[in-house]
Amino acid sequence: MIEILRERRSIRKYKDKEIEPDKIEILKEAVLRSPSSRGINPWVFIFVDDRELLHKLSLAKEHGSSFLKDARLGVVVCGEEKKSDCWIEDGSIASIILQLTAQSLGLGSCWIQIRNRKHSEKKSAEEYVREVLKIPEDLRVLSIISIGYPDEKKRKIKKEDLMYEKIYFNGFGERR
Ligand SMILES: Cc1cc2nc3c(=O)[nH]c(=O)nc-3n(C[C@H](O)[C@H](O)[C@H](O)COP(=O)(O)O)c2cc1C
Repeated sequence: MIEILRERRSIRKYKDKEIEPDKIEILKEAVLRSPSSRGINPWVFIFVDDRELLHKLSLAKEHGSSFLKDARLGVVVCGEEKKSDCWIEDGSIASIILQLTAQSLGLGSCWIQIRNRKHSEKKSAEEYVREVLKIPEDLRVLSIISIGYPDEKKRKIKKEDLMYEKIYFNGFGERR
């Protein structure tokens, strides 16, 4: 796992190469194994591999979503807010599990934030995604994870560049 974490970077450029069905199966299994508060599993995942839909979803926001049109898969992470007050946490855990599993399969991925983001002056990104995919009103949309074979190489972050100053031991401000 630490090797996967050392290698992982957000990948926003993808090869024009299909993701094998057995890898999609593994991604499906992985998200469904995500832990959730009280085991409520308030999430719903919409796997999108239709190129036209991916293109439409890439227009969800003015910035930070355009690369989705070149991804071979977008996983829209939704949550039933009425079922759990931890739907954001649960959806976030599922999103990162998806990203790390993708990494372990040689795929690249990037989180696209949808919740609390605008599509336009009048419409939220959430409303836009809901319209494109016919998602019911009571289902919130947290993120879209774009996935595909990487077509960019990013440098690994060196251990010495990590923010170890963010870590305290046995009390705020306490170093070891
Ligand atoms: C909650 C969250 C929301 C993010 N939203 C976006 C986004 O909308 N568009 C995007 O291109 N990247 C997005 N990212 C990716 C971050 O920009 C990226 O993880 C960060 O810059 C660190 O780079 P790295 O992932 O390569 O280590 C998001 C990441 C997180 C965790």
